[in-house]
Amino acid sequence: MRSIVPDYLTDALADVEPNMQGELAGYIPELAAADPGRLGAVFATVDGEVHGAGDVDVTFTIQSISKPFVYALALSDRGFAPVLAKVGVEPSGEAFNEISVERGTGRPRNPMINAGAITVHSVAGAEGLTPTERVDRVIRGLSAFAGRDLTVDETVCASEMESAHRNLAIAHMLRSYGILTEDPRAVVDGYIRQCSVLVTTRDLAVMAATLANRGVNPRTGQQVVDAAVVRQVLSVMATCGMYDAAGDWATQVGIPAKSGVAGGLIGALPGQVGIATFSPRLDAHGNSVRGVSLFERFASDMGLHVM
Ligand code: DON
Repeated sequence: MRSIVPDYLTDALADVEPNMQGELAGYIPELAAADPGRLGAVFATVDGEVHGAGDVDVTFTIQSISKPFVYALALSDRGFAPVLAKVGVEPSGEAFNEISVERGTGRPRNPMINAGAITVHSVAGAEGLTPTERVDRVIRGLSAFAGRDLTVDETVCASEMESAHRNLAIAHMLRSYGILTEDPRAVVDGYIRQCSVLVTTRDLAVMAATLANRGVNPRTGQQVVDAAVVRQVLSVMATCGMYDAAGDWATQVGIPAKSGVAGGLIGALPGQVGIATFSPRLDAHGNSVRGVSLFERFASDMGLHVM
């Protein structure tokens, strides 16, 4: 495996490299200035082996890939019932930034869309934390999944906060329903800091491998969250992780996954491997174009499908 995997990944990257389709995330000015040519892929196995090719150590912001991990932290810190009372588990079939909630309850439909993730951020960590303490808890938790200390890209964070009108609108709506109980701006600020955490493709593969390994980071041996929490998170990734492309993903790739608008993409194959790719150009759903192609190839070459 040690010698074959990098060659396989190098070939796979060479095949997708000419594909220039898609656009950088334009609504966050700093992301629109990213290098669109970056391309990397990493496999991290549950027994701790990590193999990659291309831009595996270039940092970029985690964005929505933080959502399943912070959902895991919230479930772990608060228990299932209080989190489920605020955020559902049904696919919305809508765009990630849709201003949408369940009729009647005002609950966001799932933790992968922005409305759900903003709410989940508000219940991460022990009850009674200040917004700053909560962000610290979230960054420490994400770091435990990655197996190293992660930091925030302050430039991307400030850039997104300045143009966060849509997320602020969502947060104000959630506050009006009583789903958020704090100052909406402070919650959005914390959520955007969470999204601005810097990771490499290698980090993301290890984070995904921690999910594939029932919550134990295969590099550090740390049990980051319980297996029951991981099961919940993988189920929601399977049904909602790729937003309104979740059905295409299920049929063409068939493993729990999550994308981010900086171009990262992860998939977790339980009991086997965490996979991460990085390529910043996005399709209309906000998913990495070349990342999706790579995963389709991995799925057909290796029979990844589990759903
Ligand atoms: O809240 C936002 O819009 C961004 N911080 C994250 C969105 C995202 O990554 C969507 N995924 N593809």
